[in-house]
Amino acid sequence: MENKLIVPFALPFIGGEEERAVLRVLRSGWLTTGTEALAFEEDFATFLNCVQKDKPPVRCLAVSSATAGLHLALEAFGVKEGDIVLTPSYTFASTAEVVRHLGAEPVFIDVAPGTFHIDPGMLEWVLRRLELGLPPYNQRGGFGPQGRPKAVIPVHFGGAACDMDSIMAIAQKYALKVIEDAAHAFPSETDNGLLGTVGDAGVFSFYATKTITTGEGGMVAVRDEGIAERIRLMRLHGVDRPVWNRYTDTKASWYYEIKAAGYKYNMPDILAAIGRIQLKRRMELLSMRRKIAAAYDAAFAHDERFTVPSFDPCDSRHLYPLRLSDHLARDAFIAKMQDAGVGVSVHFIPLHTMPFYRERNGFREYDFPETMNTFRREVSLPIWAGMTDEQVNYVINAAKA
Ligand SMILES: Cc1ncc(COP(=O)(O)O)c(C=O)c1O
Repeated sequence: MENKLIVPFALPFIGGEEERAVLRVLRSGWLTTGTEALAFEEDFATFLNCVQKDKPPVRCLAVSSATAGLHLALEAFGVKEGDIVLTPSYTFASTAEVVRHLGAEPVFIDVAPGTFHIDPGMLEWVLRRLELGLPPYNQRGGFGPQGRPKAVIPVHFGGAACDMDSIMAIAQKYALKVIEDAAHAFPSETDNGLLGTVGDAGVFSFYATKTITTGEGGMVAVRDEGIAERIRLMRLHGVDRPVWNRYTDTKASWYYEIKAAGYKYNMPDILAAIGRIQLKRRMELLSMRRKIAAAYDAAFAHDERFTVPSFDPCDSRHLYPLRLSDHLARDAFIAKMQDAGVGVSVHFIPLHTMPFYRERNGFREYDFPETMNTFRREVSLPIWAGMTDEQVNYVINAAKA
């Protein structure tokens, strides 16, 4: 192998414009939520509404993380104790933990074979069982929570689209709200418009490794003004009106009322300023990721040791999940890559294998067989704007060595 390079798993791509935007806010006299956050919401909504197809406009609400956004969206749609929210097990902690924050129960659905996405057939099967008053899973005679199914959270893994046509049809049949976990999916264009604008709400993440970043942050997109209003209320302490300008405007009213026990989920202006620049640069950032994905596709597609992700070229390319063939042990492969100085990761460790959910529901690993098969063979390769051709080739050579 050529001289050793170090290739981290992920790096943000921040330039002078982002630095100047932060400096401007730092010198403005106002650091937390204010005009920049409002402008970021408007810029984001303008972009989403340009691309979405023949639908009423979405409203955007900037929040402190996608986790916060998912929590707020579920709360706004009325999810509460005794309710069930259907999610994949093949996802990050956030998708299910926010369900528990509201006292509701996440019910996991296996992924469809050959995809990383919730299986609509399994989703309907579980909903049918719940409708009949049966527990959601029938392994070992039946176990798992019972309750009213209220919502489903499809996760657009890596930025690739779930089967939204099927999910939306099932949701309509069973009166479910669809909250898209679009944490990976900015911007992913589909025939239904941008991901995150297809369901009742979509939640994006601007965490440090995401396709556009604010360090930490998120955005909720919703069409229903009543839901948007509830999220606006709950993201900042349940205070009935925007009162941030009471500190900067000497004539602004000091008076406010608390209408609900809200949260502290607002996005500060320092971060929103970074987000506005990253949003402007989205195509530049996206084209760099696409080029890397294309190089990986070309390198691994005809190598029988690997299966490349069959993602749509219009996806956000947040992740590059390589599937290893059965005879190539995943853990040995990861050790080899790490020895070569290449950062890799695994997305995701299924939630039903985590002690909290495993012990709560008595799950065994192969209760979700496709999820386990996918997890056991998955390795995410580095893919980030700013990776050089030399780094990409180095990763390819290390993987093929
Ligand atoms: C699928 C998924 N959903 C939600 C989140 C939460 O995003 P955040 O870190 O912005 O809360 C993540 C984080 O990476 C994720 O991978």
